[in-house]
Order: sequence, then structure tokens, then C-alpha cells
Amino acid sequence: MIRFENVVKRYPGEATDAVHNLNLEIESGTICMLVGPSGCGKTTTMKMINKLIRPSSGAILIGGRNIDTVDTIELRLSIGYIIQDTGLFPHMTVGENIAVVPGELGWKKDRISSRIDELLDLVDLNPKAFRNKKPNELSGGQKQRVGVARALAGDPPIMLMDEPFGALDPITRARMQDEFLRIQEKIRKTIVFVTHDVEEAIKMGDTIAVLKLGQIVQLSSPMEILSNPSDPFVSELIGGRNSLKMLSLMRCGQIMKTLSPAEVEEARGSPQGILGMKATAQDALSEMLRTGERFIFVEDERHDVVGVLDFENLLERVNRHGITS
Ligand SMILES: Nc1ncnc2c1ncn2[C@@H]1O[C@H](COP(=O)(O)OP(=O)(O)O)[C@@H](O)[C@H]1O
Ligand SMILES: [Mg+2]
Repeated sequence: MIRFENVVKRYPGEATDAVHNLNLEIESGTICMLVGPSGCGKTTTMKMINKLIRPSSGAILIGGRNIDTVDTIELRLSIGYIIQDTGLFPHMTVGENIAVVPGELGWKKDRISSRIDELLDLVDLNPKAFRNKKPNELSGGQKQRVGVARALAGDPPIMLMDEPFGALDPITRARMQDEFLRIQEKIRKTIVFVTHDVEEAIKMGDTIAVLKLGQIVQLSSPMEILSNPSDPFVSELIGGRNSLKMLSLMRCGQIMKTLSPAEVEEARGSPQGILGMKATAQDALSEMLRTGERFIFVEDERHDVVGVLDFENLLERVNRHGITS
């Protein structure tokens, strides 16, 4: 767990705090998104966690330990750090870049070598094809994948990600987000993720901290932010199309009605659309529009139909959260 206690940062010579009395707890194994407009203090907040910036007052604790009492090198080795321009060393190969932290941790050569292959597989780059390439031979998306692999190399419990996908085109960016979420399901790191893109915050976050002028104006789940924005600043930030965004956060498996064996029998062979449990309610709506039916079936991993989702049900879900737009 990462904990900010009354953290203040005022840069020398400035009249106001860049971060003002920040209190925040980030639970282990979750993704906390820091979102807000440029200059609101996201990067400053993040860089105080790995001591790239020191707070003017207040304390930051990791696993109950004040980071002031932790050696800076030791601290940074336990924190993966990913930034927008990746910061890959241009003169080193992909493999050598990934090997930096394991090398500093004193790992044996063959352990490092198998770790490089394992990580390149994880980020979906063929190890044989990529480990000896130089960063300038890679596309933007591939560089970011290597950046992710490098940050994970020493298996740090914490990852800091500062607008990591900000420079990618929208399609590559969406793919990286999806893949990163899939990776996180396996690795369950404690992640602090900075973005100015509220869509990204909603998609990626377990919790979202909305920052304005160095202060948290709302700290809640994506669903809560959409259904219950705590002040006009947050409403403006999330914009008007909340219903669709909310649908994109609900999983078919969570909101379906389970079917009895007899109903499953009845459903067999019917022409309606079928989606997996992990498909979103937004996918379900698209599927209904495609088939022209007011319901779809939901199937499990073995492709057995287990539930049904109907249009009225979706409508009720959205309205229960008080959204009309
Ligand atoms: N080294 C610095 N010296 C003075 N002011 C700074 C410095 N770094 C950032 N700031 C100011 O602190 C505020 C927060 O900046 P930053 O944390 O980078 O915001 P964000 O990442 O949300 O864009 C801004 O007003 C910025 O101009
Ligand atoms: Mg920033």
C-alpha cells in the first residue's frame, strides 16, 4: 500500500503549492489513476513516490514505511517507472535495456537472459526477433512495450506510469491499454498511472483521483465518478456521454440474468447474439443493434450459454445510477 499523508510540494520561488495537502491511499494490487488538466500536479505527485521530487512537508509511506527512511537506490529498484518517451537507452539493445535493473540487483547471467525472453513474450514481442534490436529500429508502440518490459524486469511491486501511452496513435494506444490490463490481471502490481485523458482513466482505473490545482477533488471508482461526479469540475471533465461510458464499464457476466437448465435448452439454437462473460454491456448493446433483437445470450469460457441480458435490463442499470444524458 502507498499512502500520502498531508503531502505538500511547493517549488522554490513559487507563490502557490504544486501539490496541496494531499491525502491518498493506494491499495496493493490496484491501479490508481491520477487524472486532471495539465499543470494540476499529477507528475509532481508521482515523482514524490520514487523520490525524484522531495515533498516540502508531509509523509509518504510504502507498506507502512516512511520512504524518507528507505535508501533511494533500494527504493527505486523496487519501483518500475514508465514515461511517455520511454527513456530507453539508445545505444543499448532491447535485451540490454531490459537487463539493466536485474543486473543492478545482481542476478546471474542466465537468469537475466531467460527473464528477457519471458518479458518480451509477456508484452507480445517475439524474443528472437527483438532482443538484439536497437530502440531506433522500433515503432512507437514497440518501444512502449519494451518500456513496460524494462520496468517489470526486476519484478517490482510498484509501477509508476506517467502518460505512458500519450504519444501513441489512438488505435495503438487502445491496444496497449487492453494488453496492459491483461498483463495486470496476471501480475497484480500496485500501479499509479498519470493521464490527462479521462477516457483512459475510466478504462484503466480501479480508483481515480481527480486533481485540480494540486488537490484531489474526487477520489472514487470509475463508475462512481461517472454516476456521481462530486463537483462541476468533475462533471465538465467527464463530459456528457455518461450512459455509454457506464455501459463500457459493466461486464456481461456481472449483470446478466442466469438461466435455468430448461431455459438454456430453450436458448440452444436460437439466432440471437452471444457474447462472453467479459464482454461489456456496450458490446451487448452493439450486438442487439446488429441482430435487431432486444436481448443477447452470455456464454462461459466453454461456450456454454449461462445467462441472458436484455435491453430493459441495461436501461434499468443505467437509470439506477441516475444518468439521463
Ligand atoms: N521544477 C519546477 N519548478 C517550478 N514549478 C514547477 C516545476 N515542475 C512543475 N512545476 C509547476 O507545478 C505545477 C504542477 O506541475 P506537474 O506536476 O508537472 O503537473 P501535471 O503533471 O499535472 O501536468 C505546475 O503549475 C507546474 O508549472
Ligand atoms: Mg505531467
